[in-house]
Parts: sequence; C-alpha cells; structure tokens
Amino acid sequence: MSNRQITIIRIVIHIAALLPLAVLLWDFTQGNLTANPIREIQLRTGALAINLLMLSLACTPVYILTGYKPVLLLRRPLGIYAFAYALLHFINFIGIDYSFNFALIREDLFEKRYAVMGFASFILLLLLAITSIKRFRQRLGKNWQRLHWLVYLAATIAIVHYIWLTRVDISLPLIYGGVLVILLAIRLPLARNFATRHFKWLNRTTP
Ligand code: HEM
Repeated sequence: MSNRQITIIRIVIHIAALLPLAVLLWDFTQGNLTANPIREIQLRTGALAINLLMLSLACTPVYILTGYKPVLLLRRPLGIYAFAYALLHFINFIGIDYSFNFALIREDLFEKRYAVMGFASFILLLLLAITSIKRFRQRLGKNWQRLHWLVYLAATIAIVHYIWLTRVDISLPLIYGGVLVILLAIRLPLARNFATRHFKWLNRTTP
C-alpha cells in the first residue's frame, strides 16, 4: 500500500470521527438538543465512545478473517477517538451537569453503580490512551501488547455501565455484549486454532 493511500485512509478516519462532534456543536448552537441538552450530550458522547471502541476492537478480527491489512491502520485512531468522546462524556458530566461541585460528584458517582462502572471504564481508557504515546510504547516493549488486552476489560465494563443505566429495554447493550464476545473469540488461540483447522485460508497471525 502506497504512502498516499495510507494518508487518504487516515484523513477519512479523522473526518468520519470528527463529523459527529461537528454535528453535536451545530445542534447545540441551533438549540436542537432536545429540552434537556445536557442529557442529550451525555447520551450522544456515550454512544459515540462505545461505538468507536467497538470499531477499534473489530479491526484485528476483520484482518484475521479477510487478510485486508490496511484495516489495522484504523485500530489506533479509532481507539484514541473513543477515548476522546469518553473524555467529553466525563467533562459534560462533571463540568456541565455538576458544575465541578466535587462533593456532589463524589456522592453521585459512587452512589450510582452505573456511574462507578463508567468511571472505571474511563480510567482504563485513559491509561490505554497515555500508553499509546510512542515514547511509552517503546519503553513498555512487549508489555505494551499485554497491557492493551485491558481494552477488552474497558469495553466489558462500559457495556455493564450501559446495561445498568438502561431502564427499560436492555436488548441494545446486550447486542454490544454479544458482539464483544465474538470479537474476542476470533482473537483467542483456542478459537483461532479451531477455525484454522476448519478454514485453511485462515492462518494469519495477529501483528
Ligand atoms: C467517566 C465516567 C462516566 C460517567 C460518570 C458516565 C455517566 C453517564 C450518564 C449520566 C449517562 C446518561 C444516563 C441517562 O441519562 O440515561 C451515560 C450514558 C452512556 N454512557 Fe456513560 N459515563 C461514563 C463513562 C462512560 C464510558 C467510558 C463509556 C463508553 C466507553 C460510556 C458509555 C455510555 C453509553 C453507551 C451511554 C448511553 C447512550 C445511549 O443511551 O444512547 N460511558 N453515561
């Protein structure tokens, strides 16, 4: 793949990930964020964070199944954008909803079990984003890859957060849970060995 094609893929991914933020800002300035804009921002940024996280986790399985290597270029930017939207989600919660009243935030954050889960997932994403910086990656060497398996834990906790905050129909968060299990299974040696035995073309190692 040429450098030009790689640059084009990178530009497309940045535009696609930033577009929902532009729409959010536009809707905010136009007063299109329902009667409760703070909650609407919370819901939109939360949905964006989890969708981008799942897309980032889908890159390696897609490569394993199709052999299409450029998809691996999307893994890191998608993960970083997932973290960026989770950060906006958190800032909206502590800054706009609670006006940085830390006594009240502490009370609410640790009283609501879904908020505890959201916070735990956010801390893991923060850790993963920091260790994605080149200098840290080089310093961590092989441990970097081991550490980054924590992304599955972050996604699992985020899904529990989603299930616990959903009051009526939990089928959508459960679908996210099912997709996560499938994505993880494709990467696990046991499932991979089974698949490579049955589908001869499936013998790619994960980079
Ligand atoms: C930093 C700690 C977090 C807090 C305090 C928090 C809090 C909240 C709150 C208050 C809501 C709206 C609940 C409602 O009004 O019904 C929400 C929704 C949501 N959050 Fe979080 N959250 C956090 C982290 C995360 C993270 C890290 C993710 C994903 C990676 C996430 C994903 C979601 C999703 C998917 C929704 C529901 C969106 C929808 O229904 O469309 N949250 N969160």
